[in-house]
Amino acid sequence: MAQYELPQNFFFGAAMSGPQTEGGWNTGGKLENLWDTWSNEDISSFYNRVGSYVGNDFMHHYKEDLALLKDLGLDSYRTSIQWSRLIDQDGNINPEGAAWYHELFRASREAGLEVFVNLYHFDMPTYLFRRGGWQNREVCEAYANYAAKAFEEFGQEIRYWFTFNEPIVEPEQRYWHGVWYPRHHNFQEACEVQYNISIAHALAVSRYRELYRAGKIREDARIGMICNFSPSYTKDDPSEADLEALRMNDGLTNRWWLDLVTRGELPADVIDTLTKDLGIVLPARAYDADVLKGGVVDWIGCNYYQPSRVQAPSKTHDEWGNPLFAEPYIWPERVMNESRGWEIYPKGIYDFGMKCKNEYPELEWFVSENGIGIEREYLNKDPETQQVMDDYRIDFVRDHLTWVARAIADGARCVGYHYWGLIDNWSWANAFKNRYGFVEVDLMENYERRPKKSAAWLKQVAETHVVA
Ligand code: BG6
Repeated sequence: MAQYELPQNFFFGAAMSGPQTEGGWNTGGKLENLWDTWSNEDISSFYNRVGSYVGNDFMHHYKEDLALLKDLGLDSYRTSIQWSRLIDQDGNINPEGAAWYHELFRASREAGLEVFVNLYHFDMPTYLFRRGGWQNREVCEAYANYAAKAFEEFGQEIRYWFTFNEPIVEPEQRYWHGVWYPRHHNFQEACEVQYNISIAHALAVSRYRELYRAGKIREDARIGMICNFSPSYTKDDPSEADLEALRMNDGLTNRWWLDLVTRGELPADVIDTLTKDLGIVLPARAYDADVLKGGVVDWIGCNYYQPSRVQAPSKTHDEWGNPLFAEPYIWPERVMNESRGWEIYPKGIYDFGMKCKNEYPELEWFVSENGIGIEREYLNKDPETQQVMDDYRIDFVRDHLTWVARAIADGARCVGYHYWGLIDNWSWANAFKNRYGFVEVDLMENYERRPKKSAAWLKQVAETHVVA
């Protein structure tokens, strides 16, 4: 088998988020976020009726988890601060929330782990949602205030900051496709939310730059954004309509954010289609071009799970009257992760690397999430040792890392890799349905952690940087 080597300064770590791991949903002055509210209002929307309350009990296991990360040869991890834990209803720091994050960051330093801090992972505080959430410009200002407070509080401790994780997801899932609370099917609203999140990002980066200049943030710090860049593909022999579907799909999900973080602009062709052709009204203000200019970052994270394959839609509107830009294209050769319903296409990460190299050559990036979630993973346990024998996870990560190594060899500026969900975690409405971790969490045994077979493989790769 061919071996691929990753650069020695390439970093290896794992990603997680506050709302999916911490637990303690209503302790230490934490306010409700939308996940808590949805759990309280409609628990049957969650797989096995497991709501947001406990995460994977990280607040009680963090020392053990940090030791596990270190023991597996990882040098860094990402988590998110929960807005609803750090900031009170008046926009001030909640001292108990701040104390928890100080303690987590202290313990991480002690364990020799670099913490990447993300400020928003789909977790809108409910009182702000009641004031319009991302549809309300004042909530963007509140977010920038929260971000600035976080920069000031932890600016000397944290080196790597991120404004958002996957900013496309809330417009799509909450407002357009009706999947997550409040389950709307309204493309106009989705566009407002996508636009305002872009403004919120830019405002937060501007506040970061001001505080950096004032010496409130450590000198070696960097700020970025993390997006789920799903490389877009269409048929091999596309019609003009297929190419048009590709333009809008790529434009809304990839180019929108890439243009924002590299040029401080939104893609003009996409904005034209939305506003001139479709009559979408964006909540734009006269000076927004200047605001967006502030959105340029130092680097980005790419969450990569699956490609996006599209073709021309068979009708112009869906049953709710929303415009249809594209329909899924089923590639005849596709390989699926049937548990999640996502295509497995490791070469996509290479294609993303080449897209960046060609279209955004200055941009440095890392794989900020990549992983495979499997349903009923307990069925794969060794009957004697009770260890999860997850060879499919080894194959998945090996194949993706191989393409990362090839992309770097071909000039991609990819500097590290974070696996998603080193330790099984709570996954939104899917709760614990699909398990992602290299480490199992036993829900019936007090959230006990147990390494799966893949953990030993990961340790070897992280320590040697050789993918075999
Ligand atoms: C990413 C998110 O979309 O994928 C994570 O940043 C999420 O929060 C992960 O858990 C896996 O997706 P899912 O829906 O299976 O949990």
